[in-house]
Amino acid sequence: MTTAAPGLSTRMDDMREYQQFAQFYDALMGDGSSRSARILEAIDHFNVDATSLLELGCGTGSVLEGLASIPRLVGLDTSAQMLSAATAKVPSAELVLGDMTNVNLGTTFDVVACVFDTVNHLVNYESWESLFAGVARHLRPGGLFIFDLNTIGRLHQLVASPPWVHDFDGNTLIMDVRSDGDEVTLWDIRVFAPAGNGGFRLHQENIRELGVALDTVRTTLATDFHLLREEDDSGGPPSDESSRAYFVYQRLA
Ligand SMILES: C[S@@+](CC[C@H](N)C(=O)[O-])C[C@H]1O[C@@H](n2cnc3c(N)ncnc32)[C@H](O)[C@@H]1O
Repeated sequence: MTTAAPGLSTRMDDMREYQQFAQFYDALMGDGSSRSARILEAIDHFNVDATSLLELGCGTGSVLEGLASIPRLVGLDTSAQMLSAATAKVPSAELVLGDMTNVNLGTTFDVVACVFDTVNHLVNYESWESLFAGVARHLRPGGLFIFDLNTIGRLHQLVASPPWVHDFDGNTLIMDVRSDGDEVTLWDIRVFAPAGNGGFRLHQENIRELGVALDTVRTTLATDFHLLREEDDSGGPPSDESSRAYFVYQRLA
């Protein structure tokens, strides 16, 4: 079931991302099983009793689908199109149309997750701070905050790379990542899909991501959280040049 967070409609009108892209998202991004497995491994490793989990920016529900062993699952996203796919995929989850920088569900969870560079989608650092404050409000003491980030180095690398051209399901994707100033990147995503007349229909979407120095994030989180683990793709310590940084934090009592 999908519900809308109260007082949200005006704000949501400004959030137009993941409308066109939603219908192609799963075919392009694959399933979320590796992201779900990483979350389950952290819960197990740190021996946390997890009977409830909130995923911020849950998208099409690919991660929630792999977390079905957790009795209470809640997913929140700004894109009604993405949530529509999630409704079909994880009917047992409670899905909320809402903004993760301004979330007040009036309850706490054992785990809050925000994965697949979803945090980077907030394009000013004040929004990251609002997100982290919201996570602190929604986690019980001792609960886990599990998230990952695209690093500044990774985003610079994507800007320097040629556009990614990829054929899938009869469609063609062209994705070009460009600088949009001040560590903001603009992801120009175009999907050319076959149209009935033998031509193609263009589905275009612009998504932005912000890169932030990992030390800035660590400093902000130190107020309400204790760092349990941080690693890069190879399991080593992450840096601003790593391709991705994975974090597990624990809510302080
Ligand atoms: C890269 S997708 C990740 C989806 C999912 N977590 C996964 O791993 O497949 C990012 C998602 O974050 C959502 N999103 C972006 N900004 C958001 C915000 N301010 N509040 C809630 N969701 C947001 C997008 O609509 C999109 O579904």
